[in-house]
Amino acid sequence: MISVTKLDHLSAAIPKWEPQFELMRKLFGLKFLHEFSSSPGFPFGGCVAQVHGTNMEWELLTPNTPDSFVQKFLDDRGAGLHHITLEVEDIDEAAAEMERLGMKPFGGITEDSQWRMTYIHPKDSNGILWQLFSMLPGSGGDEDRTATPGELGAVRFDHVSMAVDDLDKQIEWQTRVLGMEALRRWQDDELGYKAAIMSIPGSDLEFEIMAPIREDSFVRKFIDERGKGMHHVCVEVESTEAAAAALERQGITPFRGIIDNGWKKHTFIHPKDSGGVLFQLFEERDD
Ligand SMILES: [Fe+2]
Ligand SMILES: [Fe+2]
Repeated sequence: MISVTKLDHLSAAIPKWEPQFELMRKLFGLKFLHEFSSSPGFPFGGCVAQVHGTNMEWELLTPNTPDSFVQKFLDDRGAGLHHITLEVEDIDEAAAEMERLGMKPFGGITEDSQWRMTYIHPKDSNGILWQLFSMLPGSGGDEDRTATPGELGAVRFDHVSMAVDDLDKQIEWQTRVLGMEALRRWQDDELGYKAAIMSIPGSDLEFEIMAPIREDSFVRKFIDERGKGMHHVCVEVESTEAAAAALERQGITPFRGIIDNGWKKHTFIHPKDSGGVLFQLFEERDD
């Protein structure tokens, strides 16, 4: 098993990061941390920002050159979630463990001024590009990370969700390779899927896996259209009604309206309104 210390960030690809950061700041109160140094000819730019209420960052990636991997991603799939980044205890040991588990560290081990890193290719993980890194000694430092609830009244980022064909197989992979732990499982006969929530070592954000149980399930449709991989990001808000009203004020129609069907009261932001990411917004019940 790879020794994961924490989830560092979720990364989304977008043609231009500046307006997208502004939207994310307005809606979710993200706190800008820094922009990537994008010297001329460097293939990508972007920024990272602190999320409110959850110890994790949100990254935006923008292509700088036509042959950038970010441009290829945008051409193939459009804007949206690109990778998940985990900090590991020791990157060399993590790469060695990948080899023992029968995976090739994708791109080998590379280094920038702060990190040593490698990747798990989506074909090895059933559809997610995982970035693994460890910090070089003396890098990092204290930054002001005070994010705010934003217009939507975000309390915390709750989970990132993955769509796959085989739930048990994926739970086994996440456990064996990344040391995640299944916390609860359920089946929704109405929507036609079964799912599990897993904890990520050292992290507030949880990992959800959904698999279809019927051909007409939304999970089946998603996999047929987009392939297996990341599906949505779920955010707890103070009030679903208030968040929906805040979306309306921004000219965004809450996708599928306000849903109160026995689970928690929730709504969605359609990817076309959010820069390519399906967001689920929910409030906790009082009881
Ligand atoms: Fe990243
Ligand atoms: Fe979810």
